Amino acid sequence: MTNPTLGVGARVALYGESMSELVRSVTTSPFLLQNEVAYLRWRDAKLVDYPQGAAELVVEIRDPRRLSRAEHDEVLRRIRKTNMAVYTSGVGGEADKGIVVALGAALGLNRLDANWLADDDGITSLTINPAGPRPKYIPYTNRPISWHTDGYYNPPQRQIHGLLLHCVEPAATGGQNALLDPEIVYLLLRDENPDFIRALMQADAMTVPPGTNSEGGYRGSAVGPVFSVRPDGNLHMRYTARKRNIEWKDEPAVHEAVSRLRAIYEGDSPFVFRARLESGMGLVSNNVLHDRSGFDDLPSAPRRLIYRARYYDRVSRT
Ligand SMILES: [Fe+2]
Repeated sequence: MTNPTLGVGARVALYGESMSELVRSVTTSPFLLQNEVAYLRWRDAKLVDYPQGAAELVVEIRDPRRLSRAEHDEVLRRIRKTNMAVYTSGVGGEADKGIVVALGAALGLNRLDANWLADDDGITSLTINPAGPRPKYIPYTNRPISWHTDGYYNPPQRQIHGLLLHCVEPAATGGQNALLDPEIVYLLLRDENPDFIRALMQADAMTVPPGTNSEGGYRGSAVGPVFSVRPDGNLHMRYTARKRNIEWKDEPAVHEAVSRLRAIYEGDSPFVFRARLESGMGLVSNNVLHDRSGFDDLPSAPRRLIYRARYYDRVSRT
C-alpha cells in the first residue's frame, strides 16, 4: 500500500511507484500545457533521484536473448526514469540479430520500421560499407552524426517510439553516443517559457522537404510537431539538429524555442549522458535524443558493427 499523504516524489522514491502512473491518458497528460497541476506533480517525480551520469543507466545482462526477471526489472526501472537503459552482456562479438529480436520482444518492442537499407528482417547493420550506395549516407560512414531522434523524416503514422542499438564490435577509437531524455528537454523548455512548448507542438513546426532520406531512400515531405502527446498520454519527440534540408516554421517563437533547445545539448548540461557501446553492450530506449561522434576502425581489427532496430512501439510498461 502506498501512502497518499506523501508527496509524489517521495512515493516514487520509496515505493518505486511508476512514473507511468502519472501519465495515464491524453486528456490528463502532464505534457499538455493546460494540465498545470499534473505537470508540476510529474515534474517533481521526474527530478527525484534523476541519474547523474551514464554509469547509472547501466544494467548487467547475462544473455539478452534470455532476459531474466531481475534483469528485466532493472532495465524497466531505468527506462521509466530516463526513457533509456544501457546494458552490458556476455554476448560480445556474436553477430546474431536474434539478440536484438529477442531482447526487443521481451520489452514489448515488436513492430519494426523497415527502412530502405535495412536488411530484410528490418534490423540495420551499421558499419562502414565500402561498396554499394551506403557510403554516401552518414550512418554508414565513420563521420559524426548530430543530435536527433530516429525517424524524424518518417510520416506521422510511422513515427519511431522505440530504439534499440546493440554493439557487436566497437570501433578502435571513437563512436561514442551522447544521450538526452526528451522529457528533460521538454521540462527545461517548459520551465523557461511554456510558449516554447506551444511553438514546438504546432503541427507544422518542423518540415523535412521531400528528397532522399539520410539512409538513401526516397521519401515525401514530412511535416509535424517536435513535441506531441501520444494517445496514452506519453510524450513523443521528433527532432534533428541538422541545418540543411530542414524548414522550421517561420515564426519568432519557433526560432527562439529551437535555439533554446539547441543550447540545452550544446551547453554543459548534467542531463547529457555520454556512453560508448563496447562489444556486447547496447542501448534500449524510447527513442531518446542522441548523437554519435566520429570513429576510426583499424585495418587489422574487425570493423565497428552496431545493429539498429527502430520500432513503432514504446518499451511496454514505461
Ligand atoms: Fe540515430
